[in-house]
Amino acid sequence: MKVCIVGASGKLGQYMVQHCLDRGYEVVGVCRAQSVAKLERFAERMTVVPGNTDDREVIARAVKGCDGVLTVLVPWGMQRYASGTAQAVLDFAEPHARLIFSCGWHITRDGKDVYSTRLKALVAIGGFVARMLRVVDLDDQVEACDRVFASDRRWTVVRGSDLEEGESQGLPVWAEHVGDPLLASNRTRRVDFALFMVHALTDDALAQQAPAIVGRQTASALAHAS
Ligand SMILES: NC(=O)c1ccc[n+]([C@@H]2O[C@H](COP(=O)([O-])OP(=O)(O)OC[C@H]3O[C@@H](n4cnc5c(N)ncnc54)[C@H](OP(=O)(O)O)[C@@H]3O)[C@@H](O)[C@H]2O)c1
Repeated sequence: MKVCIVGASGKLGQYMVQHCLDRGYEVVGVCRAQSVAKLERFAERMTVVPGNTDDREVIARAVKGCDGVLTVLVPWGMQRYASGTAQAVLDFAEPHARLIFSCGWHITRDGKDVYSTRLKALVAIGGFVARMLRVVDLDDQVEACDRVFASDRRWTVVRGSDLEEGESQGLPVWAEHVGDPLLASNRTRRVDFALFMVHALTDDALAQQAPAIVGRQTASALAHAS
């Protein structure tokens, strides 16, 4: 299995690199030129393609021959960075490749997610302030995911809850819609978010799905299991 990780130098990306190497996959990582040093500890074990993740020439080169592409979707700046990244991956990945994208619970595929007042306020106020400061454009991440949802590729959009650091608790559990009691704890270890992304590469049941995930040792997940 040859896997490309787009956004490999971030926190989620580095965990995904580790999980892929643990499975013996060949890894190609794309990250901004100034971030290449963050991948130094993997230097002998992966190929790094420096460049912006919305640079179509960079993505075309990086995904060539890959059986899977793991993409960290981040809506930095006002240049449509996330939708440019998603579009490049959709356009240039090999036809057979599994394409896995990361985002948050605020993304909805069919409008059937039920959000808490806290999450709605965070997205509305945080999103507005970030857009005014021209730092982050949440609408760009929405646009990126809409393009993925409309695609006939073998995609999975993994929607992460609030994240925390810490030891792995195992593969997160998931529900189709936010609002499902299973997800009530709203907490996932970042290392396990990465585990789910990598797991999705080989789980065909997740193709064309947008799972909302939560840590498998959280109270709501345990209550559901029992
Ligand atoms: N943080 C949360 O609580 C949370 C919750 C739910 C879902 N998620 C999702 O999880 C994924 C990872 O998010 P994360 O918060 O954990 O961050 P992360 O893994 O550290 O990833 C951040 C990414 O953004 C890049 N980046 C940072 N500044 C940038 C800039 N100015 N221009 C372009 N790229 C820039 C980083 O690249 P460099 O290494 O080059 O800086 C890195 O690839 C995202 O898809 C996010 O939507 C996050």
